[in-house]
Amino acid sequence: MEAEVTQVESNQLKQKPTDESQLGFGDIFTDHMFLANYEDGKGWINPRIVPYGDLSIDPAAMSIHYGQEIFEGLKAYRGKDGGIYLFRPKDNFRRFNISARRMCMAELDVDQAVNWMKQLILLEKAWIPKSEGTSLYIRPTMIATEPHLGVRPSRTYSFFIIIGPVGAYYKEGLDPVKIYVEDFYVRASVGGTGEVKTAGNYAASLLAAEKAKEKGFTQVLWLDAKHLKYIEEVGTMNIFFVIGDEVITAPLSGSILSGITRDSVIQIVRDWGIKVSERSLTIDEVINAAQDGTLKEAFGTGTAAVISPVGQITYKGKDHVVAGRQMGELSQRLYDEIVGIQYGQRPDKRGWVKRID
Ligand code: COI
Repeated sequence: MEAEVTQVESNQLKQKPTDESQLGFGDIFTDHMFLANYEDGKGWINPRIVPYGDLSIDPAAMSIHYGQEIFEGLKAYRGKDGGIYLFRPKDNFRRFNISARRMCMAELDVDQAVNWMKQLILLEKAWIPKSEGTSLYIRPTMIATEPHLGVRPSRTYSFFIIIGPVGAYYKEGLDPVKIYVEDFYVRASVGGTGEVKTAGNYAASLLAAEKAKEKGFTQVLWLDAKHLKYIEEVGTMNIFFVIGDEVITAPLSGSILSGITRDSVIQIVRDWGIKVSERSLTIDEVINAAQDGTLKEAFGTGTAAVISPVGQITYKGKDHVVAGRQMGELSQRLYDEIVGIQYGQRPDKRGWVKRID
């Protein structure tokens, strides 16, 4: 089922950004967006691409009151050869369906959703930036739309995709970020919704993130909700530590997001013959390693953040410098490899990349 297209009048098209070094993240959107509706008994109906603009939503819509919302984040890359590449797009929509099941929302047909997304990207291909480190960010989103105030799953949903050109997620770019280990607030607990991409997880993280920002930190490092002891994730990215000759990241225990970049890093590092462990890791182990010099590197992984080196970890009022506040060797090697694959410049032996134009 192709989406029906209503194009913006040519004299109404937006001005595209001229300076790609100033793109930042998440402020610019293209001329069109994709929309489809779901009704119990009918399934997904009325797929359409329309001019980008406001949604009309009933003030009693259940997403507003009870938070039935899920989203994804992926990117389209413009290769040096002019091609347009997507990285593991089906994995994003598989995860979208996992989120949908957890939040009692309607699932999508993965191939259908990828096709709708491709149709939108191809219509907007002139918006895909060309400079290194830039891409077209894609935000598939679903919201509950039924106007009803009783607490139960909605019977109607809207699925939409908005897209826009982006640069680096953090203002630091590839410079190492400073992270604050949060030892009071928690992001998510096992059995909750921490492993799915739903708005509430991000809302729950805001207060601690704002407090950390006031103190000059880029991000919060979350500990587990039960013991405030085990490393979880950074909220906008998964986190890896290189201690001695082991690369360690938290296991998918139910409260952290199953990142696609996280999984790609694990596979690549393993193929390089480096020991990589998905295991419980305490903050004390990380701090001890920072103190005895065995903590060689730390880096975050995410679609938006790509590979983001960590230059400082602050825990209980003490700062610990990581890798001399430089991008570590493995972080750089991974960044080059992943970005090389994503932009179609390095061999993609795992079939992760889809060229769509
Ligand atoms: C992404 O990496 O795409 C994310 O969804 C993180 C985000 C909330 C900016």
